[in-house]
Amino acid sequence: MRAALENRKIRSWVEEMSALCRPGEIHWCDGSEDENQALCDLMVRNGTFIKLNEKLRPNSFLARSHPSDVARLEDRTFICAKTKDEAGPTNNWVEPGAMKKVLLEKFKGCMRGRTLYVIPFAMGPLDSPICKVGVELTDSPYVVASMRIMTRMGQGVLDKLGADGDFIPCLHSVGAPLAAGQKDVPWPCEPDPQNKYIVHFPDELSVWSYGSGYGGNALLGKKCVALRLASVVARREGWMAEHMLILCLTSPAGKKIYLAGAFPSACGKTNLAMMQPSLPGWKVTTLADDIAWVRVGKDGRLYAMNPEAGFFGVAPGTSAKSNPNALAACAKNTIFTNVVLTPEGDVWWEGMGVPPPDKGIDWEGHDWTPACGKKGAHPNSRFTAPASQCPVIDPDWQNPEGVPLSAILFGGRRPHTVPLVNEAFDWEHGVFMGSTCGSETTAAALGPAGVLRRDPFAMLPFCGYNMGDYFGHWLSIGNRTDRSKLPKVYFVNWFRTNREGKLLWPGFGDNSRVLKWIYERVEGSGQAVETPIGNVPAPGAIDVSGLNLPAGAMEPLLAVDRDEWKKEIQDVEANYKKFGDRLPRALAQQLEKLRRGL
Ligand code: GTP
Ligand code: SPV
Ligand code: MN
Repeated sequence: MRAALENRKIRSWVEEMSALCRPGEIHWCDGSEDENQALCDLMVRNGTFIKLNEKLRPNSFLARSHPSDVARLEDRTFICAKTKDEAGPTNNWVEPGAMKKVLLEKFKGCMRGRTLYVIPFAMGPLDSPICKVGVELTDSPYVVASMRIMTRMGQGVLDKLGADGDFIPCLHSVGAPLAAGQKDVPWPCEPDPQNKYIVHFPDELSVWSYGSGYGGNALLGKKCVALRLASVVARREGWMAEHMLILCLTSPAGKKIYLAGAFPSACGKTNLAMMQPSLPGWKVTTLADDIAWVRVGKDGRLYAMNPEAGFFGVAPGTSAKSNPNALAACAKNTIFTNVVLTPEGDVWWEGMGVPPPDKGIDWEGHDWTPACGKKGAHPNSRFTAPASQCPVIDPDWQNPEGVPLSAILFGGRRPHTVPLVNEAFDWEHGVFMGSTCGSETTAAALGPAGVLRRDPFAMLPFCGYNMGDYFGHWLSIGNRTDRSKLPKVYFVNWFRTNREGKLLWPGFGDNSRVLKWIYERVEGSGQAVETPIGNVPAPGAIDVSGLNLPAGAMEPLLAVDRDEWKKEIQDVEANYKKFGDRLPRALAQQLEKLRRGL
């Protein structure tokens, strides 16, 4: 570990934090196969991991979290900018000094009886011009094993840093010190939600996370660094850190375009990114399923890159029919969290598309049968799998320059009002669409699901500064280049229902039909009708061949109901009010234009 010791900043920070947290031991992670094996063995011994059947699911493990620790905690997530105004109306804020005091108290001795792991990680390929290096200190071996899949982790990162390289310090503890002789539990954490803290200091660029071991709360490279802090840096440096998938769409003639899509949590990014098109001849390959870093390239186009190295995907609903490529990606070397354990030592979840086992163990560790009336897998149960295992991973997914975008999609779960697809008139209108994104809430965050909330750009939980300024940043990106080089912008909605609540659109692989129309629009051949809300597909312009839809089925999917939209803009306007004079004028004008159009 010579390189690590050479880096003075890491050395002194680790010394300082271990003096605070008082771990029993310190382990510097090199990211090697041997190290990973030893950690997995350790977790099997202490009950955190259950080794799955080596024949059915090679080198894979099941973890069950504490029942209080199953999703992101938006109430307990803080942006501690210098002023409340800088954090903005959509973020929780505490004055940084006051928060530091609270945290120093929490972290004092919090790692007693545990090992402190030092995880050097990179977001983005090491050779990318916008690669960012972080170091996470954690007392959770589950986090180490997960970070190894989700990021580029270990010795290579230390080598890149060298003696003087800078990094983003990320401190994490499950908040469960062990007294001498005290027996550990499989999933240690702070059980009281009010005692958990996911805290960002955008001015010093650091993260302090206390009390949770789950997902975005604990794998700090993901939402904390690659979105919340990166959004702050991106604004300063003139690029964008977005909650987006990236895919490559290849036409039957072999022409490729790249698309990015921002949908709120659990609204279909992973599924779209790996989609198996139902339309013959069309191909989708995957570059990213959750996060995209986007910048203006030398040629003036927007280039998108995936800062992650793995997928932390929603398990329920993932089947051979809905997302065969995700299933293949987690066939081996995968960590499953909060799914059902079958008697054969494999995993199962609701919507897996295979019959449930007669009996199994549910996510809470209890005996479970399909007839018991309870779900076996938690709705936010997840698989953690290397991106390289996805059968349709794009050859350019690690291209340090990223790929040029032809279109940006926004989306969400909207049972009413919002048509299947709608094209923005221009960049400003596209930014307006992004800023008005709404969706029904899901199980990805703790709290009630199925409630409509505004989630601008799908970044409500992830924007690290005042969202009014973030809107302005999006507008300013449009001024950094030639208008003709900007991607076209679309709003898509796979979730429109009829009066009985039945989905009108088959979704999944059939979303290729919408991508085909977008492709044709980008090429200039697709037919559209102009409406006050944007350009929607002309009758017959969406290819529904082979779908066997009843006559007239497309009409309600594409309908723009003026009364519904009048209600919609009232809600948008109420949401805009939050931003006061930070709301860019151009967006208020877009709203006015839409109101007049209706
Ligand atoms: P995060 O990882 O939380 O950011 O979620 P995500 O946006 O990647 O969502 P994901 O693709 O994992 O999908 C979440 C849920 O939506 C799953 O249960 C899917 O089965 C369901 N879903 C995804 N795409 C579609 C679709 O086209 N139609 C319908 N009806 N459901 C979908
Ligand atoms: C999301 O909630 O958008 C996720 C899962 O991608 S987590 O990493 O837990 O935030
Ligand atoms: Mn996400």
